[in-house]
Amino acid sequence: MTTASLLAADLLLAVLAAAGWLGGGVAAAARRRPLALALATVALLATLARATTVLALARVGWWFAAEKVVVAAPLSLAAVVVAGPRLLRAAGDIRSVALPLLFAGYALSAALLVTVLHGYPVSASVGLLAVAGVVAATALSWRLLDARPSRAVSRAAVAVAVAALLAGTGLAVTPGPAPAAPHDHRYPQARISDEPTRRFTLTAGTATVRVGGHDVAAWAFDGQVPGPELTATVGDVVQVTLRNRDIGRGVTLHWHGYDVPNSQDGVPGVTQPAVLPGQEFVYRFRADQAGTYWYHTHSVSDVGVRMGLYGVLVVRPGPTSGLDVTVPVHTLGGRPLPDARVEQVEAGVPVRLRLINTDSTTHRYALAGTDFRVAAIDGYDLGGPTPLRDTAVLIPAGGRYDLVFSAPATPVALYVDGRRVYSTGAQSTATDRGPVLDPLSYGRPVPTPWSRFDRTFTLVLDRGLDLRGLLPRYAHTVNGAADPDIPPQVVHPGDVVRFTIVNRSQTVHPWHLHGHHVLVLSRDRRPANGSPLWLDSFDVRPGEVWEVAFRADNPGMWANHCHNLGHADAGMMLHLVYS
Ligand code: C2O
Ligand code: CU
Repeated sequence: MTTASLLAADLLLAVLAAAGWLGGGVAAAARRRPLALALATVALLATLARATTVLALARVGWWFAAEKVVVAAPLSLAAVVVAGPRLLRAAGDIRSVALPLLFAGYALSAALLVTVLHGYPVSASVGLLAVAGVVAATALSWRLLDARPSRAVSRAAVAVAVAALLAGTGLAVTPGPAPAAPHDHRYPQARISDEPTRRFTLTAGTATVRVGGHDVAAWAFDGQVPGPELTATVGDVVQVTLRNRDIGRGVTLHWHGYDVPNSQDGVPGVTQPAVLPGQEFVYRFRADQAGTYWYHTHSVSDVGVRMGLYGVLVVRPGPTSGLDVTVPVHTLGGRPLPDARVEQVEAGVPVRLRLINTDSTTHRYALAGTDFRVAAIDGYDLGGPTPLRDTAVLIPAGGRYDLVFSAPATPVALYVDGRRVYSTGAQSTATDRGPVLDPLSYGRPVPTPWSRFDRTFTLVLDRGLDLRGLLPRYAHTVNGAADPDIPPQVVHPGDVVRFTIVNRSQTVHPWHLHGHHVLVLSRDRRPANGSPLWLDSFDVRPGEVWEVAFRADNPGMWANHCHNLGHADAGMMLHLVYS
């Protein structure tokens, strides 16, 4: 069983147990004997069955099981001890077991809420709050059932509930280590002074664009989606003037995957102020990495990128021959981009397809009709890529794959999620099928350059209730906190840093660190054994544990976030800072 299905099964059992005990209690109170017994039996079995799922999760990693072991297990035990025996000898009035069943229901519901609303890391305060809730709800039910608990008993219940409530809230509101302010309003200034050799101007504005024969309202650079393709050759000094015509919420340019100096990174509030209507900002950086990249606004990036403020950045190592095609895939106004394109290519011509995923979710790309190699991922060349055929690749949000092949005499077609987007020769009959490439075992391995790490960080990705703002929100969290309350990761220049990224949620999180490429060490404890993989965007699927490492060689304050930009907006964003 995969960790993801263990997580799902455990959640299902937890819901079944909580609902069963509660339902059984209510049925018993209403003297519906068969129903009460049936529900409570289901609940008892579900509660006991959870022992297996929780143990299995704990064996995969403590992150997946912490609150289940520390909070849910004792509460479940209490529920079984209190309700189990009474259930077995519920001979007389079924109403007499209503309270024990309700108690079990409250205990299991509290544990479930801890998992769903709080998650990892488990804390004493949530444990105490859960206990307070269970005691209070039980005491209240006792009154309502009119069982007349003795004064002493009700006093004790109230005292326990209040004490646990106070202790729990006290611990919860005690300020932890304060996260450093994301910036001190002095933005980094340094920009290379060399004369630009490639100059571009991009003007952001609202626009109406044609997608698949329909008019779609968009935000666009120079009136087009995607924006103009920016190209350079290694060694160029690229200068891009960004103007904002009428995007009220501001614009910036972030060079996704391009490890520019911090001052040019385009993160509003961190490296620069957002560029408001009528304003401009000039970016300048040296193009010293060849490869496929893209640019996009980082101001209200969830909305901005979705509405069309993005484009391609390609840096070539020198003059190239053959056919070089970029395929930036996007969903604009619910419609897929780009429109399908057909090209006549002579046999023998070398072709490079630069596949770019600018959406917030994974896309499946399949090249049919030819052998091909994956020459580069996220702008970095792979070592010893072997020929593939009828193999699909999954590109995470923000990721890029370069596929190369020599044009055969017969047609070739590229599919994205089953839709043909590019083909050579019109009537390709090839179809999208075949297995999916695992990049972690593709190409020629070389030994990892590092065996020790100066700093290690663990990022546990989950969902949780965030009560810090004006309105509570169900945030996407990292280590139980949401932006801006996630403590920054502090590194020293030259450190070799390791991240362990754990996904205990039910959704994919495409992880993206600005300013650095990370080397993949392992996934689910299995070491990567293909060509070194230097990535800037990688999908951490539910239940997965990734280990990646990088050298801290680009000082500044860097965003480190999920590139499902809706998730980033809902809290899944922190910062890496150099001390
Ligand atoms: Cu392409 Cu901060 O992202
Ligand atoms: Cu995410």
